[in-house]
Formats: sequence, structure tokens, C-alpha cells
Amino acid sequence: MNFQSNLIKKKTYHIETYGCQMNVADSELVESILIDEGYEKSDDINSADAIFVNTCAIREQAEEKVHSQLGRYNLIKKNKPETLIGVLGCMAQNLKDDILESKPYVDIILGPDSYRKIPIILKSRQDNSKNIVDTKLSRYEVYKDLFPKRQSGINAWVSIMRGCDKFCTFCIVPFTRGRERSRDIHGIIEEVQQIVDNGYSEVTLLGQNVNSYNFNNLMFHNLLEEIAKINKLKRIRYTSPHPQDITKDLLHVMKEYDNICNYIHLPLQAGSNKILKRMNRTYTRENFIELVQTIRKIIPNVGLSTDIIVGFPGETEQNFNDTLDLMQEVKFDSAFNFKYSSRPGTKASEYEDQVDEKEKQLRLQKVIDLQKKHTLELNKKLVGTIQKVLIEKESKLSSDQWAGRTDSNKWVVFNKNNSVVNNIVEVQIEKAKGITLHGKILQKMEAA
Ligand code: SAH
Ligand code: SF4
Ligand code: F3S
Repeated sequence: MNFQSNLIKKKTYHIETYGCQMNVADSELVESILIDEGYEKSDDINSADAIFVNTCAIREQAEEKVHSQLGRYNLIKKNKPETLIGVLGCMAQNLKDDILESKPYVDIILGPDSYRKIPIILKSRQDNSKNIVDTKLSRYEVYKDLFPKRQSGINAWVSIMRGCDKFCTFCIVPFTRGRERSRDIHGIIEEVQQIVDNGYSEVTLLGQNVNSYNFNNLMFHNLLEEIAKINKLKRIRYTSPHPQDITKDLLHVMKEYDNICNYIHLPLQAGSNKILKRMNRTYTRENFIELVQTIRKIIPNVGLSTDIIVGFPGETEQNFNDTLDLMQEVKFDSAFNFKYSSRPGTKASEYEDQVDEKEKQLRLQKVIDLQKKHTLELNKKLVGTIQKVLIEKESKLSSDQWAGRTDSNKWVVFNKNNSVVNNIVEVQIEKAKGITLHGKILQKMEAA
């Protein structure tokens, strides 16, 4: 036994993550950098030597959460002044000046392209007590050769591109994440191979505009096809695509390979052509409906979800009804619905015809109610069918039941019946309730 190693206590870190899956993947990168620097993860925020928060700036509410967390970190630091506090991610850019002025307890502020600097910063911190700020965006950084410290489980996130060049007028992402850039296809394939070798069943390819992927003219469908050929990879998902870049080539690759899930997140945002134009979304409601028809023709059992913003500046009652109307026509399987939130620095924040907060709330409720109806209606159509479900975790409803997702991304709850997590099983759907399906296992399809 090595007594000396017992005497050296490793420094510990605690990390909290807000925002989208890109941030979850970025936090995994940061963790791997910290571990390489000799740090150890701690679940106890009060005793950690370093506390990091990976932030999101997409809506005002997301920022408020981080502000309140920072208040909490301040209290921790008052009791333990040596605690290092780091603010990472999309808010770092916006928050920089505010922090420098009014939050002196924050030690490090790093934007999404600055994580490679963490080791140097940790070293320089030891003999320097000034704040360290780096929010410079890069045209090239894709964190090539850095292997994330993944959470154990079923799914592994893989970033394939970063940034966004679309500049929708409501959106802060092009400012916080910078220009679009794609990772080398070979590096991605190698990483997915390693992920499979490490026992994960599913990968989700990530990017703010995942299907704008372009590496030396190798496009998203080329990458997806290469990944689908990887042996023993059970499921492939991707998010978030932009409707503009959903090509027929992509749909055909999805149809051809069984391990690519029949599910597309297709963010609509609004159903009125006037609003879509003002949002700079690059498609009309007619284009969108046609795209949905093409998708459903090529992939008949596809699951479709969407994002909707209500109360964008200038949205009249009539314009809003166009959104409800389009929802009726398309019938999405699920939707993420948001009230428009003005983001300083974006074009839409300068529009003068902002919609009243109360009106936004009323519209949001209408969209939520209609979507609930559609989700249940479409789920009920699955009663009696047999679905392939990848078992992911124990159901919250009962310890005798598993929860897993269908190929089309719907949650199903069913009795365990000797099956284990990671298995793909056939489940007969018996009931649709709320947003969940309930069923019973018919047969085990494969060994774990
Ligand atoms: N790149 C993806 C979306 C990323 S942001 C796409 O193009 O669809 C995720 C969602 O947040 C968006 O689809 C949008 O619906 C919502 N969102 C972005 N900015 C917003 C804002 N200022 N107010 C309200 N919702 C917003
Ligand atoms: Fe934001 Fe639009 Fe880019 Fe999506 S495509 S990240 S909504 S600017
Ligand atoms: Fe938020 Fe940044 Fe993602 S603003 S949604 S964490 S890209």
C-alpha cells in the first residue's frame, strides 16, 4: 500500500450545467480537462475546491437561474474564501461586464471557445488573485482530440459542429457561440467507435445547426451514413436541425439504416409568413408543410417534434392563429413552446412593436393545450401496435417498471419481465396517457 498517495488530497470540482445538450457535452469536455489537471469530481458543492457553472443565455429566464445560483456560490465563498468560482458558456459573453463590476467573487469567466485555456488558468490562479476573463470566439475551435468525460448510461453526446451563421432575429446563439465550423469526419467516426466499445447503445450527434455540417464538402447525410455503418451501434439521434437543410439525401439515409432513429426535431417557430420573414427563418409556411409531407412520405412512421415561439414582436392575433392553424395541419408529436424573450444585441430586440406579456402568456397556454391534444391523439393511434423500445431507466411510476423510448422518440413504460437496461425489446402498446405510452413486453430481441 502506498501511504504517501493517501496523504495527498486531490482538489475537487463541482459543475452545474444549464441550457441545451451542447452545453451538457461542453461540460463533459471541461470535466475531462479538469480530471487531466488532477481534479476529482465532487457532488457536494459546499466542500468543492472549484465550482463551475456552464450557462445559457437563450431566454431571460435562463439567465435569471444563473444569477440566483451565483448568489448561492457567493455565500459558499464567504465561508470558504479559497473556493474558486468559474462562469462558463453562453452567458459569459453577456455577463462579463456585469460580473467584473458587481460580482468580484467570480474568479474565472470563459466563453464556449476558451476551455482549452483552463489548465493555464488554473496554474496562473495560484499566484494571481485577479479575475481571469476570456470570451474570445474562435473560427476554428472544435475541441479536436479532446475526449469528454461522459456520464455513464445509454446515450453519449457527440458534438459534430459548433456555432451558427443563420442569425434568426430573435436568437442570441450566433453571438454567444460564434461562426459555424465542422469537425473532421474521421475524428468523429473514431470517437463514435470508442463510444460503442465503451458500451453505449446510442449516440446523439449535436450542433446548433447539426445538419449544416460540412467538412471539406462532406455533408451531414454523408457523415450520418458512415456512422450508421459502425458495428453494434444500436441507435443514432441528432439535434438540432434547421428545416432549411433537411435534404432528400438525408431522408433517404435515415430510411435506409435501421439504427438511425425515425425522429426529426423540426423547429417551426411561427406559422405566419410575415413573422417567419421577420424572424429571418428562410422558409414560408407553405415550404414547411411541403417539407413535412416529403418527410412523412419517405419515412412513414417518423416522429416529428418542434419549437414554437409565441408573441414575437409584431405578432397579431391573426398571425398567431396562423401558428395554431399550421399546428392543426401538421400535427406534431410533441413541441417545446416558448414566450418570446427579448435578447439585447439581437435585431428583434430593437423592434418597437413588442407584444404585451399577458397576451404572450395567453397565447402560450393556447399552444400548450393544442399540442397536448395532438400528442395524445397521435399516441392513441399507436395503441395496439408493437414498438421497439430501448430500455433506458427505471420508471418513476414504479420500481417494477422500465421506461424507454421508441425509435420515434416517445416514452413507453412497461413491466420489467427479466429484461435489463440497454436491451432493445418489443413492446405491445396498450394505453396512451398524458404524453406517455404504456405497454407490455412481447419478447426480448437481443442480449444486453
Ligand atoms: N438551432 C435551433 C434552435 C436553438 S435554440 C434551431 O434553429 O431551431 C432552441 C429554441 O429556443 C429555438 O428553436 C427557439 O424556439 C427558442 N428560442 C431561441 N431564442 C429565443 C428567444 N429570444 N425567445 C424565446 N425563445 C427562443
Ligand atoms: Fe438560433 Fe436560428 Fe441559429 Fe437556431 S438557426 S441557433 S434559432 S440563430
Ligand atoms: Fe443556451 Fe447557448 Fe445552448 S444560449 S441553448 S446554452 S447554445
